[in-house]
Amino acid sequence: MNNTDQVSATIPDWSREVPERGEWQPGRELMRTIRGYEKARAQGGLSSLLISRLWVLAHRFWSSVAGTDIPINTEIGGGLAMPHPNGIVIHADAKIGPNCLLFQQVTLGGNEHGAPTLIGHVDVGAGAKILGKVTIGAHAKIGANSVVLSDVPEGATAVGIPAKIILPKGDQERVREDG
Ligand SMILES: CC(C)(COP(=O)(O)OP(=O)(O)OC[C@H]1O[C@@H](n2cnc3c(N)ncnc32)[C@H](O)[C@@H]1OP(=O)(O)O)[C@@H](O)C(=O)NCCC(=O)NCCS
Repeated sequence: MNNTDQVSATIPDWSREVPERGEWQPGRELMRTIRGYEKARAQGGLSSLLISRLWVLAHRFWSSVAGTDIPINTEIGGGLAMPHPNGIVIHADAKIGPNCLLFQQVTLGGNEHGAPTLIGHVDVGAGAKILGKVTIGAHAKIGANSVVLSDVPEGATAVGIPAKIILPKGDQERVREDG
């Protein structure tokens, strides 16, 4: 989990989600079904409708192989990485920006107010839960097994239950100067 600023929070790196030949990558196979479905739906017409139904079947297959619950029409920016997709659950109203990374057992869960938004290049550690209508800023990191119930600023790290926010170094110094 290396959140260097070399990874863009706005420009998708599609290579992060394309399956590599000969590799066992159920997370990437699952993303391929979501992209295939999106493409078929965008084209419109009867044949595209039939093709989109085939992608739905493929999505169900890879969802059951990977043990994920990610609705096929979730708003997901390009470059979503799920190296170990087991147990990932995403609410249908969640929004995921470009180049995010979700480790195993992550939940992006909704409540009566809404569902989380990950702005872009957010890395979410194994077992973390992000719950409700919260916004996770660009380049933020969420610690393994944390439970996030409030917004996380850009570049910050959130750890623990409920998660406490660790600001990026520059911001910490600014807070100290302001007293
Ligand atoms: C959150 C994380 C990215 C922080 O890494 P980091 O930026 O190097 O930060 P540090 O390790 O210096 O930790 C900063 C503080 O947060 C605490 N912390 C780190 N991870 C934590 C976690 N998951 N839960 C609770 N506290 C955590 C540290 O104890 C430290 O506290 P302190 O300042 O009081 O000593 C990392 O610890 C993490 O959880 N990564 C998830 C990786 C993962 O899930 N991998 C799965 C691979 S299969």
